[in-house]
Amino acid sequence: MNKASITKAMQGKTIVLTGGSSGIGFELAEQLAAKGNTVYSFDRKPFPLQQKGVHAIVADITNDEEVRQGMEQIPGPIHVLFNNAGMMRRGTIFDASEEDFDTLFGVHVKGSWLMLHRARPKLANDAMIVQMSSVHALHRSVNPGLYTLAKQAVAEMARNIAQQEPQYTVKILFPGPVDTPLARFDVTGKALEEKKKIMETAESVAAKIIQFLESEGAELHYDSETQEYLVHEQ
Ligand SMILES: NC(=O)c1ccc[n+]([C@@H]2O[C@H](COP(=O)([O-])OP(=O)(O)OC[C@H]3O[C@@H](n4cnc5c(N)ncnc54)[C@H](OP(=O)(O)O)[C@@H]3O)[C@@H](O)[C@H]2O)c1
Repeated sequence: MNKASITKAMQGKTIVLTGGSSGIGFELAEQLAAKGNTVYSFDRKPFPLQQKGVHAIVADITNDEEVRQGMEQIPGPIHVLFNNAGMMRRGTIFDASEEDFDTLFGVHVKGSWLMLHRARPKLANDAMIVQMSSVHALHRSVNPGLYTLAKQAVAEMARNIAQQEPQYTVKILFPGPVDTPLARFDVTGKALEEKKKIMETAESVAAKIIQFLESEGAELHYDSETQEYLVHEQ
C-alpha cells in the first residue's frame, strides 16, 4: 500500500477530535467510530452515549493543563488531529464585549493551537490535521464579526502549518449553516424559522466531511449561492 492510500482511507486510525459531544463533532465521532477508527473526543461535556470506538476526554481545550493531561491518556501515534470545538457570539466587532473576544479567540484560536502544540509529540509522521473554519471566514462577514475573525485566524494557522510542515496533510473546512446548538445560538422567532430552511443536518454534513477527508482536496468550501460543497485542491 502506498503512502497516499494509507493517508486517504479513514479506517483504523487514531483520531483526536475536539467538540465531539455535540452537533457536527458528535456526528463525526459516531461515523468515524462506525468506520473502525478510534476517536478520542475532547469536550467540556461527557460524550452523550456509550459508543464503541469513542473515548471521551472531558477537558476545556483553552486550559493547557487539561489538554496536556488529556493527551497523556492517548496512546500514540495520532493519525488525525481534528480541531472542531467552537462557540458562537453574534454582533459586529464594535458590538462585541471583552468576554466575547476571550470566549471566541479562546476556544477557536487558543484551543486549536493548544491541541496542535500538545498533540505534536504524538502525531504520526504523516498525520492529517483538520481545522474547522466557517463560510463566514470566506465571506468576511461583518456579523458575526469576531467569530469571523477567529475563523479566519484558524484557517491561516492551518495554512501556515501546511507551509511549514509539509509532512502533514492539512485540510480546512468552511461549512455553511448546520442545525446545531451553535447555529441556533441567539437566533429566535422569524429569523430562526428562515434559518431552518437553509440549515443542513449535522449527520449529513459530517458524512460530507468524512468523504472530503478521504479525497485529495485541501479545502472544503460551502457555496452560499448554490448551497453545495466544493472541494478545492489548494
Ligand atoms: N453549525 C454551523 O452552522 C457551523 C457552520 C460552520 C462552522 N461551524 C463550526 O463547526 C464546529 C462545531 O460546531 P457545532 O455547530 O457542531 O456546535 P455545537 O453543537 O455547539 O458543538 C460544539 C462543541 O464544542 C464544545 N466546546 C466549546 N468550547 C469548548 C472548550 N473550551 N473546550 C472543549 N469543548 C468545547 C461545546 O461544548 P459546550 O456545549 O459546553 O459549549 C460543544 O460540545 C465549530 O467550530 C463551529 O464554529 C459550525
